[in-house]
Amino acid sequence: MSKEKLTENAIKALENSYSPYSKFKVGAAILMNDGTIIRGANIENASYGLTNCAERSALFSAYSQGYKKDDIIAMAIASTSTPPASPCGACRQVISELMNEDADIIVLNDKNDKYETKVKELLPFAFSKENL
Ligand code: THU
Repeated sequence: MSKEKLTENAIKALENSYSPYSKFKVGAAILMNDGTIIRGANIENASYGLTNCAERSALFSAYSQGYKKDDIIAMAIASTSTPPASPCGACRQVISELMNEDADIIVLNDKNDKYETKVKELLPFAFSKENL
């Protein structure tokens, strides 16, 4: 499964964004080591703080289907903004617990601007279960 296929899926996931308040669509796609791709989109709520970001939607969906961090190869995150919108702090915290630190993160937009990083680069010095 190519990274290109993964980024295409993240762009496709934008279509499922439920964002009537911000009108800002975000799509995410996660590549599993069995070749499966799981998508997520941002899902907003009239009680704004209950909004779920695309990255967390995708990760919670993957875990809900039985996948674990060792099954995840990469996550792509798509928006329509320039430069491409990178994951918020809350998502970085969740990503750092639910994905391996060496897993790939691809951030892109619909104009095909993109950059690639790693989970450990998104949130250095993360709070983790080792701190508890
Ligand atoms: N959003 C995401 O889905 N992911 C992020 O990492 C940043 C923000 C969403 C939340 C909200 O629906 C919209 O973008 C505007 O903040």
